[in-house]
Amino acid sequence: MMKTTVATAALLAAIWLAATPASAQDAAAGEKSFAKCRACHQVGETAKNVIGPALNGLFGRQSGTVEGYSYSPANKNAGIPWDDASFAAYIKDPKAKMPGTKMVFAGIKNDKEITDLTAYLKQFGADGKKL
Ligand code: HEC
Repeated sequence: MMKTTVATAALLAAIWLAATPASAQDAAAGEKSFAKCRACHQVGETAKNVIGPALNGLFGRQSGTVEGYSYSPANKNAGIPWDDASFAAYIKDPKAKMPGTKMVFAGIKNDKEITDLTAYLKQFGADGKKL
């Protein structure tokens, strides 16, 4: 009886984990992955545009719309609404998704890492505060 209960609990936990798109765990892993972006991007309440635009409030806004950042025409005119799918396609291969971008970054091929990075970035609202 006891064994069944434990097995059921484990199974339920596994299902819950698989069904939860963005957990705190993902965001923590994503923060580590963001080290790859930090040379050029800032995020958070004190974030400024540096080599690349600040990445606050990324999800839900259009590409090329960070005020005061000097985009390339490619990024300025890409017209991409940033959501999970468009961000994943972009960060996998920036130059393929956005030909002519001046972002010099080879891309992240690992899907789990992209999910983690997404969870991390989604924490920050447009004002850089954690949602
Ligand atoms: C070597 C510098 C560099 C690195 C590293 C880098 N980026 Fe960028 N990124 C840029 C630049 C420069 C732009 C602006 C491109 C343009 O205007 O063509 C940009 C643009 C972007 C945009 C589009 C923003 C918008 O407002 O449309 C996103 C999203 C982005 N980067 C995410 C990332 C993420 C996530 C990482 C890390 C995995 C990363 N970048 C790594 C330099 C970099």
